Amino acid sequence: MTNESKGISLDPYSNYYDLMAPAEKSGFRKKQMRLITLQEGDRVLDVGCGTGAMSILAKHAVGDGGEVQGVDIAPKMVQKSRKKAVVYDLSIGFSVASIDELPFSDEHFDVIISNMMFHHLPVPIKQGGLKECHRVMKEGGNFYLSDFCTPRLFTAPLMALMFLWRKSTRFQLLGKLPGLMEASGYRQITLLKKGAFLKYYRLSK
Ligand SMILES: C[S@@+](CC[C@H](N)C(=O)[O-])C[C@H]1O[C@@H](n2cnc3c(N)ncnc32)[C@H](O)[C@@H]1O
Repeated sequence: MTNESKGISLDPYSNYYDLMAPAEKSGFRKKQMRLITLQEGDRVLDVGCGTGAMSILAKHAVGDGGEVQGVDIAPKMVQKSRKKAVVYDLSIGFSVASIDELPFSDEHFDVIISNMMFHHLPVPIKQGGLKECHRVMKEGGNFYLSDFCTPRLFTAPLMALMFLWRKSTRFQLLGKLPGLMEASGYRQITLLKKGAFLKYYRLSK
């Protein structure tokens, strides 16, 4: 399978991504992190890590005794993440991998984070990815998934313009992602927050 059939790679935008999306020092990221419960020493996986903003913040939270791994299908995004980890002097593992084929053993992680990446995935990869995250997460672990989902009234026109034309995003705008979550073996699915554009879910194993 090529990377294209696995999802939309952001390699062509790797040099601009941090200008387009809020980076790790932004207030937006800090607010996002407040919804995620992390303990010192936790093992954390950031799927679709992009340029590593969430991985970096997670590493600060789990400390030297914790482990953070970031994966992305875009090699240039992974390269950017690795460079940032060096700049911040943080030990974080970054690998090129797809969410539906994670290079980790069963029940390895306490927490998984996926921020703004599910809309990049074709529907079968969304399903495979949810199951694969369930496999690598410990019993009692939590998967924090935030993404574009059913819009609020005032954001609906913009979201429709941006996303309705592509099947992978239309699926989420039409409210079908929770159904896939439910079919993927999680014990409990909690909607933590409805933002203007993003919905924040916690999937507990
Ligand atoms: C909008 S970016 C979000 C990046 C990051 N999570 C953040 O919060 O800034 C989505 C990322 O998902 C990656 N991606 C797309 N399909 C993927 C897949 N099948 N497996 C892993 N990563 C994927 C893209 O290359 C891109 O870097």
